[in-house]
This record gives sequence, C-alpha cells and structure tokens, in this order.
Amino acid sequence: MVDLSVHIGNLHLQNPVLTASGTFGYGHEFADLVDLNRLGGIVVKGTTLNPRQGNPYPRMAETPSGMLNAVGLQNKGVDHFISHIYPTLTSLETRIIVNVSGSTIDDYTAVCGRLAPLERIDAIEVNISCPNVKQGGMAFGTDPEQTARVVEACRQAWPRTMIVKLSPNVTDITRIARAAEQAGADALSLVNTFLAMAIDTERRRPILSTVTGGLSGAAIRPIAVRMVWQTAQAVSIPIIGMGGIMNGRDAVEFLLAGATAVEIGTANFINPRVSTEVVDYIADYLNRHNLTSVGQILMDN
Ligand SMILES: Cc1cc2nc3c(=O)[nH]c(=O)nc-3n(C[C@H](O)[C@H](O)[C@H](O)COP(=O)(O)O)c2cc1C
Repeated sequence: MVDLSVHIGNLHLQNPVLTASGTFGYGHEFADLVDLNRLGGIVVKGTTLNPRQGNPYPRMAETPSGMLNAVGLQNKGVDHFISHIYPTLTSLETRIIVNVSGSTIDDYTAVCGRLAPLERIDAIEVNISCPNVKQGGMAFGTDPEQTARVVEACRQAWPRTMIVKLSPNVTDITRIARAAEQAGADALSLVNTFLAMAIDTERRRPILSTVTGGLSGAAIRPIAVRMVWQTAQAVSIPIIGMGGIMNGRDAVEFLLAGATAVEIGTANFINPRVSTEVVDYIADYLNRHNLTSVGQILMDN
C-alpha cells in the first residue's frame, strides 16, 4: 500500500493532484467524465470582486505544443460565486481552492473577506500573475515589494491556507518567492502562463485581440520545471508545481524538482480524464520505485 496524501501548510490533500484554475471550470462541468472525489483538489476559476466580461474574441490560439490565451479573468464575481456556485461544491469530497484575482489590493482583500466565512473553501490561491488584465494581475507578481503588500493584506483577510501563485515573467523568481513567503504565504504555486504572442501571417495581424497572451501547455514545461527547482531551493514553504503537465510522468518530474503537489491545466482540454490518470500513475510510480509515500519522491544528487 502506498500513501498518496500530502500537506500544503495545514491543508491535507488525499493525493498531490489538483486541477489548475481556468482550465477545469468549477469542477461540475467535468463531473460526467471524471470522478471529482478522486482528485486532491480543484482550483476553481479566477474570482474577482465584480463581474468581468473578459477580453474580446479571438482570445485563444493553438501554438506548437501549447496554447495562447487571453481570457482576461472572465467570471461573474464573488457574490455570484457564493450564491450560485458554492452550494454545488459543498458536497464534494475533495479540497476546494478559490483562485482570487484583483486589480487593486482592496479588490483582493474584499474577495478574501467575502470567502472567509465559507467553511468548505479550504484554501485560496492568490493570483498575482495574470498576464491578461490591464490593471493589477501580473504587476503584483513581478515586483517583490508589490508582492509583499498584496500578500500581507490577504493574510489579514483570510484565515485558512493561503497559496500565492507566481508569475514566470520575471528574471529571478526566487526574489518574488521569498517576498511572498516573508509576507505570510503558506505555500506557493507556479507557474502561471508566459507572456507570448502569435501573428497571423496572411492577415498580417496579431492572432489575439489583445495582441499578447499567456502561453501554456507542454511547450513551457522545461522552463516551469527549472523555476520550481530554483524556488524549492530558495523557500521553506511547500510548492505546487505546474506548467505543461500532460501525463503522470510529467507530474513526477515536478515532484522530483521539489514540488509537494501539482496542478494540471491545459492537458484537461485535450484529455479531460488526465488528472485521475496522473493519480494512478503516481501510485504505480511509488510501487515501481519501492517508495511508500509521495514525500519520498526525491531527486538523486
Ligand atoms: C484558458 C486558461 C485560463 C486560465 N485562467 C486562469 C485563472 O483564472 N487564474 C490563474 O491563476 N491561472 C489561470 N490560468 C493559468 C493556469 O492555471 C496555469 O497556471 C497555466 O496554464 C500553466 O499550466 P498548464 O501548462 O498545465 O496549463 C489559465 C490558463 C488557461 C489556459
């Protein structure tokens, strides 16, 4: 028997596999295809204080081994989440994590404050790394002082596990990681998408309405693995690794790089059952390597 459970701060996960924000809706959209209760957790769509329409179309494009998106945090706002979505999540036997986004620090803390009384929200993931919004978003996650300010404010407003989601669009991610740790983050998740661009050569125009967007999928995996590995050396809080995980082998690569858990994003669009397949792969990997727990998945020096 192997033990798949892990801890992210005070948060106990039955296994280390979560679905990434913005790629798995609110979970119920996938319920006909995936046994949601087999997941370590679901990170729901980016949630903001006020409703957001997102960016104009086209806002997605396929790229070699990946995709570009500029959805721009489309959601109906935190009050709609509380009244309409939260009740559909309370019966799930997996962890529910809300991805919190905002344009100002007050936006973030207002969302945290509204979510705090909801006991089935096990954790928040503070998104300081969205590349697709005009104000806030990535601006907070590319400067250590701004990172500290938003994380400290959310720490005051949110009583349970707080994960801070980092941007890869920086020269030295360890500076941002340390700032978030010192400001009170219980864990870090990385990476969000890479700022990127594609051009339609016949129309001689950018493909996305926003010109630039965020690159995700297999194409970014080696860079994401490097950033997780670097961050794991720099902080002592747990790390949730993501970026281009397409299968179980890819997930183990992040665990070997120093992540405690993983999130699966773009792969859900290709294979909606990938997350539970990854859970099975990790159990099999432990057996094949004569290991008994996920924490024993370590790189040889
Ligand atoms: C369509 C789409 C929407 C996304 N929306 C969010 C979001 O609302 N909040 C967030 O923190 N990350 C968002 N992301 C980023 C993913 O959660 C993830 O960090 C990124 O895609 C890298 O992982 P992947 O390569 O496995 O997709 C989104 C990604 C995609 C492709």
